[in-house]
Amino acid sequence: MKNRIGIVGGGQLGRMMAFDAKKLGFTVTVIDPTPNSPTGQVVDRQIVADFYDKKAIRELGKISDFLTSEIEFSDSKILDELSQKGVQIHPSAKTFGTINDKLEQKKFLRKAGLPVADFIEVETKDDIQNAAKNFGYPLLLKARFDAYDGRGNALIKNKSQIDIGLNKLRRKKLYVEKFVSFTKELAAVVARSTKGEIVSYPVVETIHKNNICHIVIAPAPVDKKVTNKAKRLAIKTMQHLKGAGVFGIEMFLTKNGKVLINEIAPRVHNSGHFTIEGCRTSQFEQHIRAVTGLPLGSIEMTAPSAVMINILGERQSPAQVKGLEKILKMPNVFVHIYGKAETKNERKMGHITVLGKTVKEAYNKAIKARKLLMI
Ligand SMILES: Nc1ncnc2c1ncn2[C@@H]1O[C@H](COP(=O)(O)OP(=O)(O)O)[C@@H](O)[C@H]1O
Ligand SMILES: [Mg+2]
Repeated sequence: MKNRIGIVGGGQLGRMMAFDAKKLGFTVTVIDPTPNSPTGQVVDRQIVADFYDKKAIRELGKISDFLTSEIEFSDSKILDELSQKGVQIHPSAKTFGTINDKLEQKKFLRKAGLPVADFIEVETKDDIQNAAKNFGYPLLLKARFDAYDGRGNALIKNKSQIDIGLNKLRRKKLYVEKFVSFTKELAAVVARSTKGEIVSYPVVETIHKNNICHIVIAPAPVDKKVTNKAKRLAIKTMQHLKGAGVFGIEMFLTKNGKVLINEIAPRVHNSGHFTIEGCRTSQFEQHIRAVTGLPLGSIEMTAPSAVMINILGERQSPAQVKGLEKILKMPNVFVHIYGKAETKNERKMGHITVLGKTVKEAYNKAIKARKLLMI
């Protein structure tokens, strides 16, 4: 049996993927520049090197039957070279190609008939003024590449803010889209296996703080019709995208019940961490199954509701966990610490998932548990 997995990126996503890969008997090697990375701590071997170090990626390819990634890695040349040598790579360079450029991604979604906010490419200031004429203010100016946690976005409320926005994102390739005054943000984690099997996890509500995912509520406390619509859109996205692995589909719910797709994340997603305890098959195990061609597992929830809260750093200092004793006495509360050596402001240091009979019960307990923990 082919049982060697290589992971590009050694953060918490790789770590949680690795736990499940090991459970299924795979050998796991990770590549990451930080020695003893969160993933490196729990796998068979870490290659300490930059993600774009060709020699190191080749070495990883040599000792892997399957290659996957927790980051948006898309050096298509080297991936082509490795796939010619028989390494199975998922998501593929082609899938990353569609997703990594947010403008291309939006074009792809629109072409597939999926609902997205109006958008246009920006080359000059005039393009933004034209967008304002066509879509009206506010607008959201966005970087096409390498954006995360809202860092590639600039809100433009009126004409006088165009230059401020351009200045914030200067020297980046840009596009602009209509601001969606959403009532909630929703997300669905979907998996597509190399065999074409597709499953979609329960649709969740995501609550952001400073553009960083903060709380996830499963199932999303919205009308069943909305959930069904969001789920259909997530599945349709995967039918068109075709890539293999787990993907996060971020969506907006508007006042009048419309669901728009915001973006596709080509990897296991923060909105799916609740699945570790909250579903029969975690998104991480699902990803391993999907990229290695195994049958996909049940996405059924194990409790009526689950709430996940991120443990974001609140200071800069060496990481030291305090308060575990109290939290671990609470039933149906599950703590995950990522093993990062240093706490930084707003850095994702871990997460807590609470299972409950109702969303309210799980939510209140999650807030309480978070307050008990210091890192
Ligand atoms: N068109 C939009 N209208 C309103 N809010 C938006 C829009 N696009 C993004 N946002 C807000 O900004 C956040 C981050 O934007 P997103 O495009 O998802 O970039 P990132 O890659 O940083 O997650 C979203 O979660 C949402 O809260
Ligand atoms: Mg996003």
